[in-house]
Amino acid sequence: MSFRLALLVFATALVVGCGDDAATDAAVDGGADATPDAGPLDGATDAASDAGDAGDAAVAWEWDLPEGFPAPRVPDDNPMNAAKVELGRHLFYDTRLSFNETQSCGSCHEQSAAFTDRLANAVGSEGAVHPRSSMSLTNVAYQATFTWANDLVRSLEAQALLPIFGESPIVELGMSGREELLLERLSMDADYPSMFAEAFPDETDPITVANVAKAIAAFQRTLISGSSPFDRFSHGDPTAMSESAQRGMDLFFGERFECFHCHGGFNFSASVDHEGVVFDEAAFFNTGLYNIDGRGAYPPDNIGLAEVSGDPDDMGRFKPPTLRNVAVTAPYMHDGSIATLEEVLAHYARGGRNVTEGPWVGDGRDNPYKSLFVSGFSMTDQERDDVIAFLEALTDDAFLTNPAFSNPFE
Ligand code: HEC
Ligand code: HEC
Repeated sequence: MSFRLALLVFATALVVGCGDDAATDAAVDGGADATPDAGPLDGATDAASDAGDAGDAAVAWEWDLPEGFPAPRVPDDNPMNAAKVELGRHLFYDTRLSFNETQSCGSCHEQSAAFTDRLANAVGSEGAVHPRSSMSLTNVAYQATFTWANDLVRSLEAQALLPIFGESPIVELGMSGREELLLERLSMDADYPSMFAEAFPDETDPITVANVAKAIAAFQRTLISGSSPFDRFSHGDPTAMSESAQRGMDLFFGERFECFHCHGGFNFSASVDHEGVVFDEAAFFNTGLYNIDGRGAYPPDNIGLAEVSGDPDDMGRFKPPTLRNVAVTAPYMHDGSIATLEEVLAHYARGGRNVTEGPWVGDGRDNPYKSLFVSGFSMTDQERDDVIAFLEALTDDAFLTNPAFSNPFE
């Protein structure tokens, strides 16, 4: 843990300490305005045609926000512009970001799986197995904190440095201590020098580690999903969702199933941040997946928020992920330990999971740290199928296939 904290401080220093002209950038911060009718794509095109003039590019940025979505929060020192988003997309998919050139962010975050990797546990570029599962990047701009259980990672800029340079819990991209190598690879490339110059036009030497993180963060902020059948249904098309899904929606938002307490709001997650939010909306819950010693323990490499906070009451508390696109992100939970949505429903209906074999035997229903909202409920097979039909109606095919989010090297 101390290593991770040290890395965070390092990451923050890199991001904060870069040579941007924050005052100018803040004045033209494109993130402050929600303009529902223009899109990241529209904005991108407009801005791209002005790419020579950074001020204009930043001003021209307009979010293509789905109806009812607030404007994402954008740090003052990293305003959106089209050139930066495009640079970030390239970096996100570039295997030269890993030491052995085998992996990129996109290796563990595949668009067709809502930017997860279909594995229970992520595998790093040198083969190490991560204790946790890759996370969906659906609407990641709106997360209050980043990763499964860490309330210290508060920006996408800081998060991006962890897989590149982190060595704990595993080596992911393996660039720790190799900042110069990374910058050299990017500087030697035929296209990156001009792409960095366009993305960071006020800087004389823009190929920096901080700017790598900023560009990747800017790209990730555009990964916005809000055109699922559920969205069409809620904006007035009664045919967009089946009757089963409509019944499932009522169960999801009802007091028997209680799902909405932790997966509510436009992003189906209680952990939310955007322009205008003044309270700290970081949220972490214990859902009773484990109870190893009968006193609430989770497996030692996955104790949740307690690992960072050191507070025993935070045992097994994890961030509630967004449920948008959840039908394509199996297997589920922080450690991928639930294979299907049916089993997820069975877990909640029981009020916690009973692990009956293997090293983690114990009944999660009796976990003393479990949230009161996971108290169990009765459910017919039809009701289970209805809730699953509703969760499937959160799949946004346009998001999963949008060329603007795809690998530019393919
Ligand atoms: C080896 C596979 C792997 C690679 C490579 C990888 N990630 Fe991840 N990603 C994960 C895992 C696993 C988690 C959850 C980590 C945790 O909880 O400790 C995660 C979490 C995240 C999150 C947090 C999402 C949220 O909702 O909190 C973001 C953002 C993210 N990754 C972006 C990136 C970026 C950007 C890169 C490239 C610089 C990258 N990832 C590379 C596996 C990977
Ligand atoms: C007390 C808050 C809470 C309630 C109530 C709750 N969830 Fe969750 N949910 C979470 C948390 C926290 C996680 C991650 C837990 C973990 O990995 O240990 C999660 C994970 C999930 C996942 C897995 C998502 C993924 O990407 O891995 C699904 C699906 C899910 N919940 C659906 C539901 C449904 C359906 C209901 C209602 C029956 C519900 N949840 C009720 C907090 C809650």
